[in-house]
Amino acid sequence: MTRATILGLGSYVPERVLTNADFERMVDTSHEWIMTRTGIAERHIARPDEDTSDMCAAAAREAFADAGVTPEEIDLVIAGTVTPDFLVPSLACIIQKKLGLINAATMDVVAACAGFIHGLSVAQAYIACGTFKKILVFGAEKLSSITDYTDRGTCILFGDAAGAAIVGPATDDSGILAIHIKSDGRHDELLNIPAGGTHLPVVGNGSVDPRLSKLHMKGNEVFKFAVRHMGDAALRVIADAGLTPDQVDLLVPHQANIRIIKATAARLRLPMDKVYLNIEKYGNTSAASIPLALDQAVHEGRIKKGDIVLGVAFGGGLTWGAVLLRW
Ligand code: ACO
Repeated sequence: MTRATILGLGSYVPERVLTNADFERMVDTSHEWIMTRTGIAERHIARPDEDTSDMCAAAAREAFADAGVTPEEIDLVIAGTVTPDFLVPSLACIIQKKLGLINAATMDVVAACAGFIHGLSVAQAYIACGTFKKILVFGAEKLSSITDYTDRGTCILFGDAAGAAIVGPATDDSGILAIHIKSDGRHDELLNIPAGGTHLPVVGNGSVDPRLSKLHMKGNEVFKFAVRHMGDAALRVIADAGLTPDQVDLLVPHQANIRIIKATAARLRLPMDKVYLNIEKYGNTSAASIPLALDQAVHEGRIKKGDIVLGVAFGGGLTWGAVLLRW
């Protein structure tokens, strides 16, 4: 089977910044509480007229340049998101239109914060069996559109961003060494948007409390689940690749909460200097978190050719996944 590799990366974060001081004016919270409980100081928020697809298009343009690939070469677009521009058509279709990806098939993947790793696993399978040769995988969110800014337990966490990866067949020893995805739908109510689907449709003004169209989360229960499954998934891909945790050069975790990240690193016995962190500046950007962090880590020289890189994420569903790559 052909090994899939990342040929190029790109990312985009909107300009506007919401600081912890801004939240002190909006809800009953403090910079100190947010920093010690989450590690987040700032997050970037998209303009009202800036759609998820706009952020994806900006990220993709960087990825095309990085990979030396043209839009016409893309034969599949996979968009990991819970904040598409529309329910129909898919986010991937809108991206296709905006970037002129005339030869591509398109699909969205809904796995919340684990959306990018889920998308990557689909891309890896198509590359392995030879169906497609150049796949554009996104993790992108406009979480500000589904955040309840009166709920201090969630609003302080989330930011907007997009990350893009072009995936294709490896021509050297780089690529995905192992990938694992999993979910447990029995915990659907720990993290959900109650209204807007068939269960509770939003049919007209005032028919449904607007807060029901925003993210609801039992944070401390998600926290415990995340710590257990991020560690399990990470150990599994390392073992599947025939490696040991000490061979990992850089852990690039979903930037959800500094305490979850530290617990995952401790489980793998990895020192924190082998962990990539940007949570302080961007907060939790859900599916965008890992591709944004990968792109920044490469630009900062934290990932070099030949490095063993571990990505791991969890999110609503509940869903989780891990990927081990040789760069
Ligand atoms: N400021 C001040 N106090 C707060 C705030 C706030 N922003 N938010 C909650 N509190 C209070 C609570 O009301 C509670 O007060 P009480 O003891 O008087 O009842 C107290 O702080 C403790 O609340 P917990 O929820 O137990 O706090 P915890 O330490 O668990 O931190 C947090 C909350 C940050 C949300 C944490 O649970 C977390 O990060 N969970 C994981 C969330 C996550 O990463 N989800 C990822 C998926 S997102 C997606 O898929 C789109």
